[in-house]
Amino acid sequence: MSRVLYLIACAAGPTQFVDAGVRRAQAAGWDTCLILTPSAATWWGERIGELEELTGHVVRAQYKLPGESDSLPKADAMLVAPLSSTSLNKWGAGVADTLALGLVSEGVHMGVPVAAMPYFNQAQGAQPAVSRSIAALREQGVRYLDGPDGYDPHPPKQGNPQAFPWDRALAALATA
Ligand SMILES: Cc1cc2nc3c(=O)[nH]c(=O)nc-3n(C[C@H](O)[C@H](O)[C@H](O)COP(=O)(O)O)c2cc1C
Repeated sequence: MSRVLYLIACAAGPTQFVDAGVRRAQAAGWDTCLILTPSAATWWGERIGELEELTGHVVRAQYKLPGESDSLPKADAMLVAPLSSTSLNKWGAGVADTLALGLVSEGVHMGVPVAAMPYFNQAQGAQPAVSRSIAALREQGVRYLDGPDGYDPHPPKQGNPQAFPWDRALAALATA
């Protein structure tokens, strides 16, 4: 039986092409469930059904209501990709006001392997909160993927979201 991956995508450039990330994860053998931040979900709008058809699961973006049962299978691993600078800073500060951040904030302290690959520009990355947030995530055991194993901020206006290296992020999970 395939292991279950929660692929969690924020409202950052590559999320326009998150179907490519899902396909890569499926090719790597993961039963892939997709979770979007509420902002990211607005980018897909009515096309979210295409992602549900692709994953075979409901695409979640909101916390469930009290008493509602879980609609996704339990995760064996979680990958936040692309991680926006905003979600990075909220996560680092312990703010879990989206389902996306709630899952990883708790998951990493429940023994689930959690990796995160950012996508933001150098101006966004220059915000002093960013380095503090990265340190806070690593301190908790999150595998934050930058440098040759991940993604480093690009100069403003020079990103290429279609070239986001999904396979690099998936390779990190393979060793988790
Ligand atoms: C068209 C567009 C592209 C954006 N691209 C990025 C991006 O690549 N990286 C990033 O960190 N923020 C980007 N942003 C800003 C985020 O969408 C914004 O900070 C948002 O609040 C992030 O919310 P989330 O982290 O909950 O998804 C972009 C915004 C827009 C409108």
